[in-house]
Amino acid sequence: MTRDPDLQALLDALAPDCARAAPAAGENAHRVCAEVLSRARATLGTPAATPPAQLPACTHLPEALATAATGPFPATARALSRLAPRLTWTRRSSARPSDQPFWDGHANAMLLGPGGLENRADLWLGLSLIAPGVTYPDHDHAPEEAYLPLSPGQWFNTAMGWADPRGRGLIYNPPGITHAMRADAHAPLLALWLLPL
Ligand SMILES: [Fe+2]
Repeated sequence: MTRDPDLQALLDALAPDCARAAPAAGENAHRVCAEVLSRARATLGTPAATPPAQLPACTHLPEALATAATGPFPATARALSRLAPRLTWTRRSSARPSDQPFWDGHANAMLLGPGGLENRADLWLGLSLIAPGVTYPDHDHAPEEAYLPLSPGQWFNTAMGWADPRGRGLIYNPPGITHAMRADAHAPLLALWLLPL
């Protein structure tokens, strides 16, 4: 078996883009990216069992991808644009319709990982999209995590405070740390996340 060519193209673009990205807080983010991409290279998951699905926040995806294509990681942006029609976008499980700005203002998609386009249990590689002016609230998880920002936006964790990498750098979240992100007032946030499980 060989990997889905669009996913392979994304991985081929991501490796040099992650290596080139400037870490906002030490080298841990590079290590996490390298570990996730190494695991992806080493083994192959199974094809997606879920159909594509859109959410209201996806109206911001064309603008976010266009911004990403003019940023420092255009090869990754182009690969994501080819994958976009196939993504299964979901809300965070804790989201509630009573919080309308967040409910309609965020969407996540798993590329490689549990329930992803390539279903596998040893890593998460996914995408978050946040509408202008919306904050993705504090959350935490056991695995450490690296974000590759593909748009403007701000990232928070309790060790780093708020950081604004302006689309140039990697963000690192240590295991279990409380973290969040927020879009600029007038532009959507788009970012990839990489977690070794
Ligand atoms: Fe996270």
